[in-house]
Amino acid sequence: MHCFIIVALTADGFIGRDAQHNSTRWTSKEDAAWFNARSKKAGVVVMGRSTYETIGRPLPDRVTIVYSRSDKTRLVENQAKLEKNQVYYTKLKPKELLAKLSKLGFNETAVCGGSSIYTMFIRSGVVKTLYLTVEPVIFGEGVRLFNQELDLKLGLVTQKQLSPQTLLLEYQLIGRR
Ligand SMILES: NC(=O)c1ccc[n+]([C@@H]2O[C@H](COP(=O)([O-])OP(=O)(O)OC[C@H]3O[C@@H](n4cnc5c(N)ncnc54)[C@H](OP(=O)(O)O)[C@@H]3O)[C@@H](O)[C@H]2O)c1
Repeated sequence: MHCFIIVALTADGFIGRDAQHNSTRWTSKEDAAWFNARSKKAGVVVMGRSTYETIGRPLPDRVTIVYSRSDKTRLVENQAKLEKNQVYYTKLKPKELLAKLSKLGFNETAVCGGSSIYTMFIRSGVVKTLYLTVEPVIFGEGVRLFNQELDLKLGLVTQKQLSPQTLLLEYQLIGRR
């Protein structure tokens, strides 16, 4: 199972102004096209409840899995099959969720935020790749990519300009320092 983080960052390293801020309000159409293509290739997207509420619907042509401690309907752990265009809920640990997804035939999982979910997945040691899109905006304050202390070492795999204004960086996680 290849598990990757996919995220858009401001030039000063934020992923949103607050928990309710919808990313598509400040990210580029080129990043939206990249995000859709890469996450559709994976087939399954994982996000926190706050991020899901900023979107308000399952992502088309993908299985959407939402982390929530309160929602007990349509739990991933009870499903024998996961359908595209549907939303499922979970509170499984990242390793357990990825094991379940492997069992159901998925080879890749796109971790799509927000901060609490990015942090939980990277801390659990399952993330192999980070795709960071850097957009030419500055918030000064806001929601950080990660919300706990980390000490990780990355290797830059590729860099690509999605447009004259927007840079995509692909990093591989090399290890803990
Ligand atoms: N720029 C980007 O690419 C990007 C991508 C995604 C999100 N974002 C931004 O990120 C911000 C939201 O991030 P956030 O950290 O505030 O919220 P979040 O991670 O989207 O969602 C937090 C919620 O997830 C659930 N959750 C978290 N850990 C859990 C666990 N271990 N088990 C079960 N459920 C768990 C809880 O839901 P319950 O309260 O229901 O229990 C919690 O309230 C927004 O600004 C959004 O736009 C940006």
